[in-house]
Amino acid sequence: MTTRRIFLKTSALASAAVVVGATQNVKSENKYTTKMPAKNPIVVSTWKHGLAANEGAWKILSAGGKALDAVEKGVNVTEADFSNLSVGLGGLPDREGHVTLDACIMDENANCGSVAFLQRIKHPVSVARLVMEKTPHIMLAGNGAQKFALENGFKLEPKKLSPEAEKQYNEWLKKSEYKPKANIENHDTIGMIAIDATGNCSGSCTTSGLAYKLHGRVGDSPIIGASLFVDNEIGCATATGVGEEVIRMCGAHTIVELMRNGKSPMEACKAAVERIVKKSSKNLKEIQVGFLALNKNGEVGAFALQKGFNYAVYDDSGNKLIDADYYFK
Ligand code: GLY
Repeated sequence: MTTRRIFLKTSALASAAVVVGATQNVKSENKYTTKMPAKNPIVVSTWKHGLAANEGAWKILSAGGKALDAVEKGVNVTEADFSNLSVGLGGLPDREGHVTLDACIMDENANCGSVAFLQRIKHPVSVARLVMEKTPHIMLAGNGAQKFALENGFKLEPKKLSPEAEKQYNEWLKKSEYKPKANIENHDTIGMIAIDATGNCSGSCTTSGLAYKLHGRVGDSPIIGASLFVDNEIGCATATGVGEEVIRMCGAHTIVELMRNGKSPMEACKAAVERIVKKSSKNLKEIQVGFLALNKNGEVGAFALQKGFNYAVYDDSGNKLIDADYYFK
C-alpha cells in the first residue's frame, strides 16, 4: 500500500514535470545567460553556400535581431536551394534513392532541438526549432519527426530528386559501390554560428548527409555536441564532413571546451582535427572533416583535415569567403 502510494505520488509529480516541461522547455533566462555589453554582430558558416546563408542571417542581425532567428533564417536559404546537393531536399539521396535530412539548433540558454532521418520536409532546421520550443524533448526522428512537422503546419513536399541529384544517383547505381562520401572540395553540411548585438550566441546545422549512405543512417548534424555546440559564456562551434569522425570525438563540444581552457578558436579547431588524426583508425586521407568556431570576443577560427574547406564570415566589414588551414599538407 505504502509502495503504491509513493508510486502514485511520484507519477503525479512526473506528469506535472512533463506538463511544465512542455510549456516551459525554453527558458527565457537562466544561469547560462551572460549579460554581455552590446557589441558588433557576426555570423559565420561553412562552405561557399555560407555566403548566401549569411546574407539571410545578416538581415536579422544588422536590424538588431536575435542570433537564434538569424541562424534559423540563414540556413533556411540553403535548405530552400533545390540545386544544392548536400543540404535540403535537393540533396543526394541514400543508396535506396531517399533524401533523408538531419538538422539541429541551439540558443544562448542551452535550449536545443533536433530532427534526424526526416523526409519530404523543406526546412528541417525550423522543425528542430519547434521541437526545442514546443516539446519537452530535444530530438525527434523519422516518421515521428515528419508527423510532428505536419501537425505544426509544414507541408509534405513531393518525393522527387532534383534533376542533378537524379542524374548523379543513376550514375552511382551503375556500380552501386558502397562508399558513402562527403565532399572534400566543394560543399557539404551547412553549420552556422552567430553572435547578435546583445552579445548572445546561437548556432544551427542542416544537411542531407552523406551521399549513398545506408537507409536509416544518421550523421553528426542532428547531434548536439557533435555538429554543434553553444555555450554563451565561451562561444560556439560547428562541424562539417564525415559525421562518423565528428561524433566519435564530440567535435563541437570538444572545441568549445578547448576554448574554455584558453585556446583561440583556430587553435581549438586544429587541436580537434589532431585528435581525430590521433584516435581514428580510418583512412583519413580520403575523407574531409572541417571545424569552425567563434568565441565571445567575436574571434573566428577554422581547421580541416584536407585542403578545400572554406567558410563565410559576415560582420560590419562585409561578407567574405576564407580558406581554412588544414592538416594533410
Ligand atoms: N556531416 C554530415 C554528415 O555526416 O551527415
